[in-house]
Formats: sequence, C-alpha cells, structure tokens
Amino acid sequence: MNLSTRYLGLPLVNPIVIGASPFCDNVAVARQLQDAGAAALVMHSLFEEQIEAEQRALTHHVESSAESSAEATSFYPAYAEYQLSPDNYVRQLGRLKADLTIPVIASLNGARPGGWTEHAQRLESAGADALELNLYQLATDRAVDGEEIEERMRETVQAVVRSVRIPVAVKLSPFHTAPANFVAQLEAAGAAGVVLFNRFYQPDFNLEELEVQPALKLSESSELLLRLRWLAIISPHAGCSLAASGGIHASEDVVKALLAGAHCTQVVSVVLRHGPRVISSLLGGLRQWMERKGYEDVGQLRGALNLSRCPDPAAHERANYIRILQSWRV
Ligand SMILES: Cc1cc2nc3c(=O)[nH]c(=O)nc-3n(C[C@H](O)[C@H](O)[C@H](O)COP(=O)(O)O)c2cc1C
Repeated sequence: MNLSTRYLGLPLVNPIVIGASPFCDNVAVARQLQDAGAAALVMHSLFEEQIEAEQRALTHHVESSAESSAEATSFYPAYAEYQLSPDNYVRQLGRLKADLTIPVIASLNGARPGGWTEHAQRLESAGADALELNLYQLATDRAVDGEEIEERMRETVQAVVRSVRIPVAVKLSPFHTAPANFVAQLEAAGAAGVVLFNRFYQPDFNLEELEVQPALKLSESSELLLRLRWLAIISPHAGCSLAASGGIHASEDVVKALLAGAHCTQVVSVVLRHGPRVISSLLGGLRQWMERKGYEDVGQLRGALNLSRCPDPAAHERANYIRILQSWRV
C-alpha cells in the first residue's frame, strides 16, 4: 500500500505532518515523532515582533525606537519570554536537521512587510526544507478595510518568497471574505502551498475576577468540518499544495481531509493529548480503512469528495444549507 504524498514539492512518506508547535524544541521528542511515523515536522513560529526586537537590539535602540509606540510594545512578551530567540531558533533548526531524516519546515508568523522577512534567508541557510508563513492577524481597526489588510498580506508573502529558494506555504485564517480568491492571489504571489486553517486562540471571561482570561484549548474533531468545506471548494482549482490543520484526531479525520483534497494533514492537539505514539495508530487506521475500501494509494483518495464536479459550488452549499434547516421539526 502506498501512503506517500508530495507536499510543497517535498516527498513525504505519508500524509501525517507534525504541525507548528513546541514539539520541535526537544530533539529527542522530535525523534520519537519521526520514529512513530511522522512524515515531516513544522517548527513553532518565530514572530515578526520578536525578529524586529532583535534587529532593534542589534542597533542598540530596543527601548527608544522612534517608530514603535511604548504602549503598543508593552503588550508584547519581553524579549527573553519567547521560547527561542531568533539565533537559538536557527541553532535548533540545525540540530533537528542533523538528527532527523524527515523534512523540517521552519515557521514565521507575521502579516506586515518589513525587514523581518529577510530572516527567512537565515532559516533557508540553516537547512529548512520549506517555510510556513502564518498570517495571524485580527482585524480590529474600523479604519482599515479588508482589501488593505489582504494587500499587506500579499506583499508579506511576496517578500518572503523572493528572499528564499525553498518553497513557502501560507497558513491562513478562515475569516477571509473570499478564501478561494485569496488562495489564488497567494499562488500568484508565489506561495507553494496553503495551510487551512490557523486556529485562533479565543480568550474567555473570568466571572469571579471580572478579567479576560487567555486560554489555549486543544481542538476537537468537530473543528475539522470547516477545513473540509474549504478544502473541497478550493482543491479543484488550486495549483498549490494544500494542508489541513485543525481538528485531526482520528484516522477517519485524516481520510476525510484527503478526500476533501488535502495533500497532507497537520496534527498538534492529538499528539499533545496522547503522545508521539498516536501517530502510528493514526497511520494504522488509515491503512485499515484503505484496505477495507480497496484503495492502494493515497493519491486515489485525494479530492475524491471535493466539489470538482459541481458546476455551481455556491448554489450547492446554499441549497444544502436550506435543506438541512428545513429538515428540523419541533
Ligand atoms: C501549544 C501550541 C503551540 C502552537 N504554536 C504554533 C506556532 O508557533 N505557530 C503556528 O503557526 N501554529 C501554532 N499552533 C497551532 C497549530 O499549529 C495548529 O494549527 C492548531 O493547533 C490546530 O491543529 P490541531 O487541531 O491539530 O491542534 C500551536 C498550537 C498549540 C496547541
């Protein structure tokens, strides 16, 4: 049975990739993930703010930078609070490359063009097989419209793509007005793949302390449905690689993401919950399902349930929406 796939032009032994997360910080854990069958590893992100802070530090203007507002910068973690400094990140990438045989994908997180994008070159030089650029941004400013935000994002992608020769994937939020069109724009900007989707951390309220309570809850399988919908819509026309991220917890979830059109699936929460060995059971379940259904190659699954044969996906989705609401009786 052939589980191999290609993602960002990289050959992967199977479609299960460790998504961006702290697993990369410990080489022994990364090795366990590889031994359990993980096909590639995405490092956690280096943040635009972190790289810019280092660049300012290098020119001795950390606290007195003219262009940074003291109030805004005070929200951010102090330089030492980040998991890895940009230098240590590059060193850790080197260690992972020396120890692992699977591809290692470095990750940058930022949505505005700027000098920080040049850091991509250092990641390429340190041996990264590809880059993932996470465009995390919450649009809170009433004065800035979607077109301006997406224009900045496109410029950022272009700047990163132009500074390296390795492939660049873009990790997207589901909250774009026209995700299919935006993916086409990212392809035109040089993206070799997109990761659907970013998972926003959502702060809760603490009713005793009357405070906002930041919380990072692990995902559930139900979150995969949003990914399936957009993979099924985008995959028939995408010229780039597609990764599903968010809500992959069982081998059935891997199968569904492939059927919707993903080239690979990224997992984080399930591994945080159950440890590295869960990868081998996900792969075992994938093999069993394929055997039961008579598939010999994961390539046969890819996109089999996408909307490629649907002449009007928008009408199809709307019709299903109306039908499902009408099916409820009280
Ligand atoms: C502890 C933790 C750290 C994460 N760090 C990053 C990160 O640095 N960069 C990034 O793009 N995503 C990061 N993510 C998001 C994951 O890569 C992934 O997109 C998300 O958890 C959804 O996948 P899951 O349902 O398999 O957990 C992190 C998630 C967790 C739980």
